[in-house]
Amino acid sequence: MLPTLHEQFSLRDLNSFGVEARARFFCRVRRADELAALAAEPRLAGLPRLLLGGGSNLLLTRDFDGVVIKVEPPGLREVGESGDAWCVEVGAGENWHATVERLLAMGRPGLENLALIPGNCGAAPIQNIGAYGVELAERLESLTAWDFDSKQVVRMPAADCDFGYRDSAFKHALAGRRVVLGITLALPKRWQPVAGYADVAHELRARGIAQPSAHDIFETVVAIRRRKLPDPAAIGNAGSFFKNPIVSRDEHRALIAHHPSLVGYPLPGGRVKLAAAWLIDAAGLKGATRGRAGVYDRQALVLVNRGGATGAEILALAREVQDKVAEKFGIRLEPEPVIV
Ligand code: EPU
Repeated sequence: MLPTLHEQFSLRDLNSFGVEARARFFCRVRRADELAALAAEPRLAGLPRLLLGGGSNLLLTRDFDGVVIKVEPPGLREVGESGDAWCVEVGAGENWHATVERLLAMGRPGLENLALIPGNCGAAPIQNIGAYGVELAERLESLTAWDFDSKQVVRMPAADCDFGYRDSAFKHALAGRRVVLGITLALPKRWQPVAGYADVAHELRARGIAQPSAHDIFETVVAIRRRKLPDPAAIGNAGSFFKNPIVSRDEHRALIAHHPSLVGYPLPGGRVKLAAAWLIDAAGLKGATRGRAGVYDRQALVLVNRGGATGAEILALAREVQDKVAEKFGIRLEPEPVIV
């Protein structure tokens, strides 16, 4: 059945930056048959599509002359096991953090490092969400998606999603062509804490916890995130605005010779992932304000809407950050959110 199509629909309340932009057409979708009806709708023929989950990884800089589809399939159910993992299927429209909490309460830990990440479950594979030493890719068995080309639901094993650092096929070859309807999580039967990340280890020590439970890690991550990252309900933002850039061993050597306090993490194979927040901070931009847009004063990697900013203002600030970092370090930062 065709979902209700709204015209000239305001997206202000549906993006975590809280910027105004209108969609020529907007609808909410809970089932695959609604996507089939949308694909057959003559009014939408040839129009570009924008898929929206929780709207927390998106910067809207203009009205969208196409159809915005808010993906809202509900549900959570245990669907068996696969090797040494419990499998739980979750609808794309379920809130991510509430799902992490619910699984913990069900005795299914494994996602606690990813607590408090904003957004919905369907968006988690798009950018392969990650934090404090865990990435979604390590906890995903498969997903189901509606395919606009074949006009049917397909099941994709995690291995077919081309996951990388904040990256997947849904950002490239499959962008706008497949709609994630549900994800099947693989949660380890023999759970082990992932507590090696410096911030987590430090916070656990401060709390006097030597052998953390999943619940301890959950609380620790929530505390760290609350301290460092702005709550989108209070200050518009999209989490980290840039990816941490990856450089070669030689580039890293040359940079550190000039900037001895540069922060980087070695990767397998000799490359180094640099802390973009450090680069922005060292370029003197932490806490900067341009009009109604700003660089967050507690985490330089986060751009914020200080109240009433337009998407264009935030984008202009992002460009300034890119230019100043490039000028000082010769590195072009790559934005993390989808920019429309
Ligand atoms: N730092 C500064 N100035 C700052 C903030 C940080 O110099 O204003 C330096 C510090 O040395 C710090 C280092 O940068 O040790 C790294 O900062 P942090 O530990 O806060 O992590 P991050 O690399 O900035 C990444 C993810 C976050 C994730 C954290 C924890 C990306 C793009 N961001 O941030 O993810 O929560 O690690 O794992 O990979 C997100 O994607 O939206 C997000 C918040």
